[in-house]
Amino acid sequence: MFAVQYDRFGGPEVLHLGEAEAPRPGVGQIRIRVRAAGVSPVDAGLRSGRTPMSARLSLPHIPGVDAAGTVDELGDDSGETAVGDEVFGTVDLASLGGASAEFAVLQMWAPRPAGMSWAQAGAAGSSVETATRALDLLDLRAGMTLVVDGAAGGVGSVAVQLAASRGVHVIGTARADNHAFLAGLGARPVRYGAGLADRLAALGTTRVDRALDVAGAGSLAELVAVTGDPAAVVTLADFAAAQHGVRLSMGALAGEPDGRHGLRAVAELVDQGRFTVPVEAVHPFAAAAEAHAAIERGSRRGKIVLSAVGGVNGSGDQRRTGR
Ligand SMILES: NC(=O)c1ccc[n+]([C@@H]2O[C@H](COP(=O)([O-])OP(=O)(O)OC[C@H]3O[C@@H](n4cnc5c(N)ncnc54)[C@H](OP(=O)(O)O)[C@@H]3O)[C@@H](O)[C@H]2O)c1
Repeated sequence: MFAVQYDRFGGPEVLHLGEAEAPRPGVGQIRIRVRAAGVSPVDAGLRSGRTPMSARLSLPHIPGVDAAGTVDELGDDSGETAVGDEVFGTVDLASLGGASAEFAVLQMWAPRPAGMSWAQAGAAGSSVETATRALDLLDLRAGMTLVVDGAAGGVGSVAVQLAASRGVHVIGTARADNHAFLAGLGARPVRYGAGLADRLAALGTTRVDRALDVAGAGSLAELVAVTGDPAAVVTLADFAAAQHGVRLSMGALAGEPDGRHGLRAVAELVDQGRFTVPVEAVHPFAAAAEAHAAIERGSRRGKIVLSAVGGVNGSGDQRRTGR
């Protein structure tokens, strides 16, 4: 099969299309012919070799954990899914890759809803799993107020919409030119950075019940201060969490229960017109290096996606934006 891969760590230029052996699904897994695969900041960090998790990879490595496509092989005990079903989801997240290829094995999946494009479906999996897991840990209930720090990103934008769908009042931090985007997702936007308590007071917020840190930008002390309780804060990205008495959730990498039920919940919300996966740009698989470079430039308003629709080199419309 064809696969985006890298043989050495480095910049986006180490990515190339090559041949790889097609994976086979294990127990509780399915294999899909990939139509679209998401690219995340985590994928770029792993490829750079600069994150501690890079040491877990054996090279060559196929990046990407999110994919959508058509089921072509079933593992034992893979449930009610049938060959030919259209699904979206994630690979085994502990494997840290395998999605950017002609075939990928999924560990968690849900049927692709009619209102979700292939690009949106390819990008959604791990952000939905992660946001669901974090919101579950926060034990959110309708009527509570939640602050999401880093709310306009891939995980944050999902967390905002899921929390809002549960009747939670969401306040999200983002840079100023993402505020309208964030408001459209259902959050009241504020700037991020020092002085959060003052900005919340300026919004008229007198009580914050829970806080989710998706940015890892050093805000945990402030989030503990505004909630008044370290147990009311979860971070997905700040490795200094223990110093603040805050829980760092790492999902499969830490053997935690996963948030896979969020995939079906999101599919239902999409069908009801209450959830969207923002997509910034779609690239053909052959332009994976460009996609990783776009991730590293930051300043996105949605996911970057690799598409196999139209072939690995794309055909004309492969650089459209999907905002
Ligand atoms: N623990 C887990 O299980 C898990 C799973 C997935 C991802 N993650 C981690 O979660 C983090 C976010 O991932 P992602 O895919 O959502 O990344 P992303 O799409 O790049 O989003 C990051 C967001 O952080 C915001 N941001 C930048 N500087 C900030 C600051 N100083 N304060 C607050 N927010 C700031 C950005 O907002 P603006 O664009 O508005 O500037 C951006 O929306 C990454 O560190 C990733 O490694 C953890």
